Amino acid sequence: MRVLGIETSCDETGVAVYDSEQGLMAHALHSQVDAHAVYGGVVPEIASRDHIRKLSPLVDQALAESGSAAGQIDGVAYTAGPGLMGALLVGASFGRSLAWAWDVPAVGVHHMEGHLLAPLLESPAPDFPFLALLVSGGHSMLVAVHGLGRYQTLGQSIDDAAGEAFDKTAKLLGLPYPGGPALAKLAEDGDPGHFNFPRPLTRRPGLDFSFSGLKTAVAYALRDSEERPGLKADMARDFEDAVVETLTLKCRRALKQTGLDRLVVAGGVGANQRLRDRLGEMAREQSVDLHFPRLEFCTDNGAMIAFAGYCRLQGGESLTPEISARARWPL
Ligand code: KG4
Ligand code: ZN
Repeated sequence: MRVLGIETSCDETGVAVYDSEQGLMAHALHSQVDAHAVYGGVVPEIASRDHIRKLSPLVDQALAESGSAAGQIDGVAYTAGPGLMGALLVGASFGRSLAWAWDVPAVGVHHMEGHLLAPLLESPAPDFPFLALLVSGGHSMLVAVHGLGRYQTLGQSIDDAAGEAFDKTAKLLGLPYPGGPALAKLAEDGDPGHFNFPRPLTRRPGLDFSFSGLKTAVAYALRDSEERPGLKADMARDFEDAVVETLTLKCRRALKQTGLDRLVVAGGVGANQRLRDRLGEMAREQSVDLHFPRLEFCTDNGAMIAFAGYCRLQGGESLTPEISARARWPL
């Protein structure tokens, strides 16, 4: 079975082809970062228009790269939510129209299920069951993954997602959009231990996250500190350490609580090197089997949607005929 995957939930247009025998055959990505950077964040209307412009050429590119003629595609998967409604509808309409023209099934994929399954594109792929830490711009979640489609949410953010906290704190520090990678880069020049930022919700039991107070702590520290060389780099470092320590502690707690010994990390913040290193240490200490997607598949991409769609179609997903998308959609 060969599946074309389409991702348009936010500011990346991603298209990929996944084949049951040959694995990932092609993936093409267009990032809209430059279009949104001047506004300091994603502008939904610009996102939709840019997806419309880029989707058709990217589909052509992915089909050509995979050497697929249209008749060799057995199904089309597209991100049906959660995300920006207009952006989602571009991918949904395009994907369903292609499927209709090719007379193959179409399947709407949950964006976070795409992230969750992305580590399975790597080799060795993790076996089920595992614990998944999903940390993106819109979500922070800990999920016990018992099998395909058998997801138990153990904890999630009660306010800002981890990536959102990175983005908002980066803005406070005067860094350009997208803030996460910019903040991580600045933190490389910082010294740790100057600011005692909180590790939110770690002192009480439970697996939920809360990152908005951390961003506020940075705002106060910035207000109360005398300007000096390296101040913002030190702040970025301590902020990053606070997020990384919090996520690591919650992962350790969730592993203990569930008895699982396999951890999968995905979503844009999964590209953060300090998080990857720190979780690596924890995994060694606890004899936990740790899996990440490659860096380019941590952030939004078409490969994870093609793969998740393949898994769903393979599992005999029942299909609804209408073009549908959901801005909000629990996993
Ligand atoms: O998964 P993703 O591409 O989109 C969503 O589904 O939201 O995640 C994007 C988020 C952004 O908040 C971005 O700042 C963050 O991931 N991010 C990072 C890094 N790379 C991307 N955060 C920290 N360190 C990074 N290296
Ligand atoms: Zn995402």
